Amino acid sequence: MLSYARKREPYFCSGLPPSKVTYKLSDNTMIVKELISEHLTSKHLNRFLHRRFLTGILALTGVMPLCAISTNANISQVNLSQEFTRALELAPDVKNGEKIYPLCASCHMKNGWGKRDGSFPVIAGQHRNVLIKQLADIRSKNRENPTMYPFTDPGSIGGMQGISDVTAYIASMEKDPEPGVGDGKNLDLGKDIYQKRCLRCHGAEGQGNNEAFFPRLKGQHHAYLLRQLKWIRDGYRKNANEVMVTEVKALSDDELDAVADYLSRL
Ligand code: HEC
Ligand code: HEC
Repeated sequence: MLSYARKREPYFCSGLPPSKVTYKLSDNTMIVKELISEHLTSKHLNRFLHRRFLTGILALTGVMPLCAISTNANISQVNLSQEFTRALELAPDVKNGEKIYPLCASCHMKNGWGKRDGSFPVIAGQHRNVLIKQLADIRSKNRENPTMYPFTDPGSIGGMQGISDVTAYIASMEKDPEPGVGDGKNLDLGKDIYQKRCLRCHGAEGQGNNEAFFPRLKGQHHAYLLRQLKWIRDGYRKNANEVMVTEVKALSDDELDAVADYLSRL
């Protein structure tokens, strides 16, 4: 069983005071309970409100509901099977991961940069937790990916230790310095949308967050980003964060194109 003790990050509840959050990955029910009680106990809020009354009112009217929603949605991202949770726990052997990687190279290429036309994503330099979660989701058909499905069979990758190793190797690979980009016409719009709707989870530089399972978006191919955004918005890709789904549902095809273009050039 794996447990994390870490500071609450700003993407959970911007505006609330930092506090320790402990949760156990292999027992999802427990995670939800612990985090929600953390967020909703009046203890922190009271302390906070006494200190900063006006900001406190804002927190109660605006930040708090958002906080409760984003907490729930974030947790639903960590809904891994027991089997794949094990891959997170096992200490990785990067050298062994390098030996397994050729299995993935026929599509994701030797360097892990996929294809600029976006048919195959960049995986090099992606956070290890994100890689493991995507493999788990594809395996459980929570994320539709028939092309890759056969390659998510733990039996052919060397079991959970193999998955632990190959994802550590991929995370350590050098990132693609020149991913495929869009037409560059609406970069200001893309930046504006990103800062308002996406930055709080994916980070100022699109760098994501390993601990929170937020993917790195920086340096990903434009065409792949755009396809995922449309699939997430339109419900074809079902494993995305609920708060994110709400954000992308508000955006048109052109707006998604602009934000994907902006991200591919970060
Ligand atoms: C036969 C081709 C193929 C092989 C082999 C393959 N993949 Fe993929 N992979 C894909 C495709 C296609 C996608 C993107 C699917 C989509 O658009 O949703 C993908 C997506 C992914 C993603 C999700 C990326 C993201 O940003 O969310 C990960 C992680 C991944 N592959 C890892 C691997 C690993 C690890 C291996 C080897 C064990 C592997 N793949 C082998 C075709 C392949
Ligand atoms: C509440 C946090 C949150 C917000 C806000 C958010 N995302 Fe995400 N996003 C996530 C998580 C978590 C995932 C991974 C989902 C999964 O596990 O498949 C994700 C996945 C993605 C992916 C797929 C990445 C890949 O490698 O396949 C893209 C693209 C993306 N987000 C772009 C955006 C954009 C653009 C916005 C703003 C319009 C946004 N996100 C807002 C949390 C968020």
